[in-house]
Amino acid sequence: MAKVSITVNGTVHSANIDPRTLLVQFLRENLRLTGTHVGCDTSQCGACVVHVNGKAVKSCTTLTVMADGADVLTIEGLAADGAPLHPMQEAFRENHGLQCGFCTPGMIMTAVDLVNRKGHDLDDHTIREELEGNLCRCTGYHNIVKSIAAGAKAMAKPA
Ligand code: FES
Ligand code: FES
Repeated sequence: MAKVSITVNGTVHSANIDPRTLLVQFLRENLRLTGTHVGCDTSQCGACVVHVNGKAVKSCTTLTVMADGADVLTIEGLAADGAPLHPMQEAFRENHGLQCGFCTPGMIMTAVDLVNRKGHDLDDHTIREELEGNLCRCTGYHNIVKSIAAGAKAMAKPA
């Protein structure tokens, strides 16, 4: 067993785990944070994207022990329970950036990381290139791109 201590959405969680436990398993099964999805298990779809120390990672191909001591942010941590949605979540809602919603948590975590790296004025080409690691089976991407452009702008405004 391996002992880990990981801050998830601002709360420290310590646990003894099988060293082979994937970060997505730890989040979903140990912490019951089921907003992070598993769509493929092979690093293709991006449904499992979370932030580790401020950077987007695919939690299906990250071992939990690799995140020991780290700060992890999941979709549940973007907006507190009962609080208004995060501007990127709100932009997906307003722009119909989802249909079944399976890819949405990963899309939003990738989008927030993109804004953190490339700023608030994102053109369609940049957004489409940056989404290469996130697959959506439903929307045809058009409204996702629109949502991310709008969310990026909204994130520039003071809350
Ligand atoms: Fe991680 Fe698909 S479940 S990339
Ligand atoms: Fe269904 Fe993207 S909204 S997979």
